[in-house]
Amino acid sequence: MTLPRLVKLVEVGPRDGLQNEKQTVPAAVKIELVHRLQAAGCKEIEVTSFVSPKWVPQMGDNAQVMAGITRQPGVRYSVLTPNLRGLESALALPRAAWPDEIVVFGAASEAFSQKNINCSISESIERFAPVVQAAKSAGIAVRGAMSCTVGCPYEGDIAPERVAMLAGLMKSIGVQRVDVADTIGVGTPLKVQRALEAALKHFDIDHISGHFHDTYGQALANTLAALQLGVWNFQSSVAGLGGCPYAKGATGNVASEDVVFLLHGMGIDTGIDLDKLIDAGHYISDFLQRPTNSRAGKAVLNKRCD
Ligand code: HMG
Ligand code: MG
Repeated sequence: MTLPRLVKLVEVGPRDGLQNEKQTVPAAVKIELVHRLQAAGCKEIEVTSFVSPKWVPQMGDNAQVMAGITRQPGVRYSVLTPNLRGLESALALPRAAWPDEIVVFGAASEAFSQKNINCSISESIERFAPVVQAAKSAGIAVRGAMSCTVGCPYEGDIAPERVAMLAGLMKSIGVQRVDVADTIGVGTPLKVQRALEAALKHFDIDHISGHFHDTYGQALANTLAALQLGVWNFQSSVAGLGGCPYAKGATGNVASEDVVFLLHGMGIDTGIDLDKLIDAGHYISDFLQRPTNSRAGKAVLNKRCD
């Protein structure tokens, strides 16, 4: 078994992690979190979403957050844009605050597509097509998130064929890379491998990533299963923050600290300083007045108290 020697992580804590947070998180705290993440060596950070503030109030400060970040060279800053309105808002910022990459987000489940973005899968693709085109014309990269690739809170199990279908549609409109998301964390290693293989029918191994929520505690096992297929791009959330507002009961992404501990322990490079990442997780957990959801984070923080 040859495992990747290097893994790239997209840190989604500021977006996926905080979008569902009930308490108001001021823009200044989000900005400080991004600063701490980049200081820890995170090279890709999903910062915010340009979605309707009525649907996701926590992301209503998107422009302020994007404009407030002191950028670090070599870091890619991404944002979610579900429609042209979202992209236009992101591009209305001064150029220095533009995202480097935008994310259109669809689902392999019709019911989830309706609940999350208020349209069918085929309507979503029609909506995304001009967003993809306009982003590329502006020199911005385009990623496609694919939700519910293993299971859906409304439809149950999702067949790999549906993932292949969505990946094919994403490819057809010019999306450059896709995230294979287990939105509600019901995936187990073999099921996740089938979902990734379905995406691999349309995207090569360098252009797919694993996005695993940890609701049932399977995300690290799923990460290893993905590594065994050669996947070397993953998304994770510092302190294991988060959940999707349209996936009731789903908890956060796998904690970045735990993924980094796993990878470093296997001799796989991430470019991330685990101690500084744990500090970033501690910062936001402290603000939220909750213990971190990262097991590695807890272990290291406990040891520091000894
Ligand atoms: P809609 O209601 O169908 O859209 O929402 P609409 O075009 O009819 O517009 C309705 C209102 O929203 C209008 O305002 C628009 O101006 C406004 P009103 O006239 O009522 O005052 N509007 C917007 N405002 C700001 N920015 C925009 C925007 N678009 C419309 N971009 C829409 C469609 C997609 C906008 C809505 O359904 C929405 O915002 N959904 C949010 C979905 C979301 O953010 N979900 C969480 C992120 S996805 C996720 O977490 C999964 C992921 O992590 C992978 C995984 O784990 O599965 C990526
Ligand atoms: Mg997610």
